[in-house]
Amino acid sequence: MIAVTGASGQLGRLVVQALLGTVPANQVVAIVRDVSKADDLRASGVQLRQGDYSQPETLASALQGVKKLLLVSSSEVGQRLEQHKNVIQAAKNAGVELIAYTSILHADTSPLALATEHVATEQLIRDSGLPFVFLRNSWYIENYFSAVGTALETGKVFGAAGEGKFSAASRADYAAAAAAVLTGSDQAGKIYELAGDQAFTLAELAATLADVSGKSVAYVNFSETEYKDMLVSFGLPEGFAYVLAQSDTGAAQGGLYDGDGQLGKLIQRPTTTLRAVLQAHLSSI
Ligand SMILES: NC(=O)c1ccc[n+]([C@@H]2O[C@H](COP(=O)([O-])OP(=O)(O)OC[C@H]3O[C@@H](n4cnc5c(N)ncnc54)[C@H](OP(=O)(O)O)[C@@H]3O)[C@@H](O)[C@H]2O)c1
Repeated sequence: MIAVTGASGQLGRLVVQALLGTVPANQVVAIVRDVSKADDLRASGVQLRQGDYSQPETLASALQGVKKLLLVSSSEVGQRLEQHKNVIQAAKNAGVELIAYTSILHADTSPLALATEHVATEQLIRDSGLPFVFLRNSWYIENYFSAVGTALETGKVFGAAGEGKFSAASRADYAAAAAAVLTGSDQAGKIYELAGDQAFTLAELAATLADVSGKSVAYVNFSETEYKDMLVSFGLPEGFAYVLAQSDTGAAQGGLYDGDGQLGKLIQRPTTTLRAVLQAHLSSI
């Protein structure tokens, strides 16, 4: 049996869907914190189980009989290490034979503050002795959807990444990669640096958005502090604004760039382009 945590989240849902392409539904376990959010998963025929990263007792039953597990990193930044520790311990107790973990691109050398919890989680997994695969995902292209609305209204994309290149890819491509790893053989010990084929700067993001929308959009670069303060003025919590602004300056140092094409190789097709993702998004809003 193959289990996916965070299955009610955006990435987890896509991984479950991708698995259902090749794995019978009764061999897929969708682990969610809140089963009331997962009627669609239940309807798909997968085994729906409740599991909260912060409640170890729920994880023991959620992982019963599971051979391969995808631990989708928690969205609760700052609490993730303790939460992931609970899942890793429960996986060990349950006799899981392979744990895949969604980490961050070049976690061990990343200048991004976000990488700290991922590096520590990778170490916990190594120390557990469980056979592992690290899926070190770069940025999601979808991270820019919130900026699209602002850009179409103001004609501006804001950021602090300078000329930094983002090898971003769509969630669906990262999900396809996770499914390929979970259904593939000889995966133990592999570390994948997963990134989109075509990296872009934020100026190129603005130009692509202008092209796709037919509106004028330009990139405006700020210092990390100026950008963080702007995000706070837009209503983001201070801590989250810091993480976003610091990720941009991390990207300016190359932290979200990778040119090796491992994602495309794993999913056996070119990764979905920025243009295609923006076009699909614009036609859905
Ligand atoms: N690479 C990137 O650009 C990028 C961007 C954003 C996030 N991320 C990371 O990638 C992960 C997946 O991304 P996403 O877009 O799918 O995020 P998402 O839609 O926010 O999904 C996060 C999932 O984690 C679950 N979760 C959070 N706390 C939990 C807990 N205590 N116990 C059990 N489940 C818990 C959520 O459950 P609920 O549905 O119950 O809330 C949700 O299913 C994120 O959690 C984050 O670590 C990466």
